[in-house]
Amino acid sequence: MFVTSPVPVFQVVYHSLATSPLPTTADHRRLLSQSRANNAARAIGGMLLYAETTGEYLQVLEGPAEEVRALYRKIAADVRHHNVSVLSEGPAAERSFPNWQMGFAPLEADELAQLDSYLSPRPPSNPKTDGSALLEVLADFARTREVSY
Ligand SMILES: Cc1cc2nc3c(=O)[nH]c(=O)nc-3n(C[C@H](O)[C@H](O)[C@H](O)COP(=O)(O)O)c2cc1C
Repeated sequence: MFVTSPVPVFQVVYHSLATSPLPTTADHRRLLSQSRANNAARAIGGMLLYAETTGEYLQVLEGPAEEVRALYRKIAADVRHHNVSVLSEGPAAERSFPNWQMGFAPLEADELAQLDSYLSPRPPSNPKTDGSALLEVLADFARTREVSY
């Protein structure tokens, strides 16, 4: 989708909890269609994962730093979710999700369990605080998944 980036790529990965009552498929379709239109205008891509069993979101935003930061601030203030916490943020050499213009995929309970050790802030001694490890896991995930809708 974005073959080359004229500006350096900045990535943010956050975790949050959907607000009750939990969103429906229709809610997510609406959210995604609005998001993709907004994001395309700002060269922002990434991936949104949602675990229906727990109502957990995991989202990667990537694109120009100022655009990504501004979007993150807007998303963090959205009442449709809460307990929004950044798991990883920083510049990257290239996009990790070049084919995902805000892709959406469900996260199954077993997949969520595999990611569990990355989902809370860890003491610095734990190598899993390294955001690049989490991004690698998520990029792998994206490569093996179809965008749901
Ligand atoms: C989990 C979650 C993910 C979101 N992701 C995006 C996104 O990738 N892009 C986006 O523009 N809005 C996203 N939003 C919606 C924003 O919080 C906000 O409602 C929207 O950007 C407002 O758009 P507007 O300024 O055009 O009214 C997300 C909201 C939630 C709850």
